[in-house]
Amino acid sequence: MKNQRYWLPVAGLLLLAVMLFALEKSRTPVWMTYQKEYFAEQIRRIKSELPAVKDAVKRQALTHELSQWEKRKPEVVNLVLPNGKVERCLTCHLGIEEISPSHPTNTFGCTVCHGGNALSLDEQTAHADWYGQGHPGALSSASLSCGGTGPNGVRCHSGNPQAANNEVDLVKGSIMATKAGELSSVRRMLGLDPGNTVPGLKPGQSAQYFPNPLNGRPQQAKFMADCLTQCHLNNGNLPIFRFPQGARVKSTDVADANGALTETPAYGCETCHVLTNATHTYVGGDVTIPRNQVGFGMVHRLTTQIPYTQCNQCHNQGQHDPIHDIFTPRKDMQQVVNDWMKPTLSFSRRVKDYYVPGEVFARCEVSLDCIDCHTRQDVMGDGHAYQSEYSAVHIQCMDCHGTSAQLPRTKVITSLNDPAFEEKITNPVFPPLKLGDRIVVTAKGEEMPFVRQEGKRWLVYSRISGKSFNIPLVKGSACRQNPARQGADSCHRCHAESTAHP
Ligand code: HEC
Ligand code: HEC
Ligand code: HEC
Ligand code: HEC
Ligand code: HEC
Ligand code: HEC
Ligand code: HEC
Repeated sequence: MKNQRYWLPVAGLLLLAVMLFALEKSRTPVWMTYQKEYFAEQIRRIKSELPAVKDAVKRQALTHELSQWEKRKPEVVNLVLPNGKVERCLTCHLGIEEISPSHPTNTFGCTVCHGGNALSLDEQTAHADWYGQGHPGALSSASLSCGGTGPNGVRCHSGNPQAANNEVDLVKGSIMATKAGELSSVRRMLGLDPGNTVPGLKPGQSAQYFPNPLNGRPQQAKFMADCLTQCHLNNGNLPIFRFPQGARVKSTDVADANGALTETPAYGCETCHVLTNATHTYVGGDVTIPRNQVGFGMVHRLTTQIPYTQCNQCHNQGQHDPIHDIFTPRKDMQQVVNDWMKPTLSFSRRVKDYYVPGEVFARCEVSLDCIDCHTRQDVMGDGHAYQSEYSAVHIQCMDCHGTSAQLPRTKVITSLNDPAFEEKITNPVFPPLKLGDRIVVTAKGEEMPFVRQEGKRWLVYSRISGKSFNIPLVKGSACRQNPARQGADSCHRCHAESTAHP
């Protein structure tokens, strides 16, 4: 019994020691774990590179780098912005890429685009109230992020005196976000709205009363459930679906719980400006981002060099049958997806991928990328709310080819403030442009700074690769067009190649 007096305090001390040890362990902040993981990844990378390096100088440099990583200790990263504000996001996100040369990390930091709590070193609180749940390009938060105010007090992509610089407002009202074209045409087709596009409808007749089994209000509930909520109305943030090859998809199948059909979300500005791979997974340097989680761009990078594969995440995906409410995805679409990272493919490969089988096109409608023709206002809107694609499109064949009576419209650059220079800031393949140069202007008055007249030659410089293409002109050729009929349909009656898909 005498010993008990000693036993108790000893046990107490032991217990305290165990508790202190556990506490210390739980106190190793999670950011340290991420940083160690990042260092370890750099060490693995260099060790795997080293054996192949023969050059002695390079070898020494790499060996030195390796020892630096091996010695490095985790520490809190305080990014001090020019306005004096401190951000610590990089403490965990050490390996993240700079988002773009026009948004340098040192002056922009992170929270201007992402929101969140700049000083927190805890995942939950750091991410609290972030914009768009980590996707700042989502149109529901783009006004706060892309449309916000920069650290230097400058307005970003909204609230500027020049309407063209307010991409956030333009995109939100563009037909790709409102889907006004699809909605109004399908609604008219189903007779939900009176219109003149129902086959067999006589002038003055309302489609609502047209004797068609699909007509009338009863159809509305099905339309809302199958088309609107599933695909075609998501606050402008359109879901992109990856279908198994050859599937025939009723829109209600999409929520299939066994994972046969997978949904990849697309977020507003990011759907075009952040390039994705086939699986929509992140492959960059930030070790915090799980490699198997769907819904990220390939790397943390904004670009204006948007290849056709990116547009074809939504376009040319398959055939819609709005009458039977069925969508048939392309069997061959997988091929486009596999080459996601290689925008410059051979012409024959492009022909295979580009359009839905059976569609007709002239050569340039495949050899060029979508954005070599479709202007900025075509893709990001011009401030008008259009109800059909046809009225929204700005580009016309004659903008580049002219007509049998006229050369393409051009303008001479006479001021260094000309908006034509603006793309130089964001597009590294922008061809040299100087005062006195002649660029093409569309019939709707939009400049095409990538399309030029140089002496006797007319050229398109690809916005993706920088490669130049000679434009054959209609004037002076043997073209048999009627100069009054400039719609693409009329050209395709004679200039029609077709995708001979397997
Ligand atoms: C304590 C570490 C930590 C800090 C500090 C931190 N993050 Fe994160 N962040 C993470 C982790 C871990 C993930 C991956 C979460 C997951 O598993 O999806 C992540 C994911 C993200 C994502 C991707 C979100 C998604 O899943 O779509 C964004 C964006 C992001 N963080 C931004 C920030 C910003 C901005 C800050 C600073 C305000 C910040 N983070 C601070 C740990 C941190
Ligand atoms: C110009 C705006 C902008 C800035 C500045 C910015 N980001 Fe991002 N960030 C984005 C966009 C847009 C995405 C979504 C990309 C996507 O769809 O995958 C993103 C995604 C992320 C992700 C998810 C991984 C990924 O690449 O998709 C993380 C983590 C992240 N950002 C952290 C940061 C950190 C840390 C900083 C500061 C060093 C920062 N961001 C600065 C716009 C920005
Ligand atoms: C997130 C899906 C999505 C992506 C990505 C996308 N589009 Fe679209 N686009 C649409 C939808 C939907 C419509 C039709 C809207 C309607 O008719 O209501 C459309 C319409 C258009 C139109 C006709 C109307 C107009 O505004 O001129 C053009 C041209 C066009 N897209 C080009 C492009 C190009 C070029 C890209 C790539 C830079 C692209 N799209 C990427 C969904 C998308
Ligand atoms: C459907 C595809 C698409 C979407 C969605 C889109 N953009 Fe763009 N954007 C483009 C293309 C293509 C270009 C390059 C063409 C150009 O500037 O003429 C571009 C260029 C830009 C530029 C550079 C302009 C310049 O002069 O270089 C900015 C800034 C921009 N976009 C912001 C945004 C913002 C902000 C959003 C979201 C609100 C957005 N974009 C959504 C396709 C898109
Ligand atoms: C060689 C130039 C060129 C290329 C490349 C091009 N388009 Fe077009 N596109 C046009 C023209 C011109 C029109 C207007 C057609 C007309 O006159 O009716 C058009 C019309 C459209 C329309 C409106 C609906 C329709 O079919 O008429 C959509 C949507 C569209 N293009 C999307 C795309 C997408 C997506 C890509 C890339 C995969 C692309 N275009 C590539 C020139 C081009
Ligand atoms: C952005 C400028 C641009 C626009 C817009 C454009 N083209 Fe072209 N077109 C070209 C270029 C460049 C070539 C040469 C393509 C090549 O070398 O691969 C070309 C080649 C052609 C040719 C000769 C090759 C052939 O296919 O026989 C025809 C015909 C043609 N285009 C018709 C059209 C039609 C029809 C449209 C409207 C749907 C159109 N183009 C829109 C730039 C344009
Ligand atoms: C009735 C048939 C017909 C129609 C309609 C037609 N074309 Fe042509 N086009 C031709 C013929 C034939 C040639 C000469 C082909 C040759 O020289 O190999 C030609 C030549 C051309 C060329 C020059 C090609 C070269 O390689 O030099 C262009 C560009 C062109 N057409 C564009 C158009 C556009 C744009 C439209 C619509 C506005 C159009 N064509 C409508 C029959 C037509």
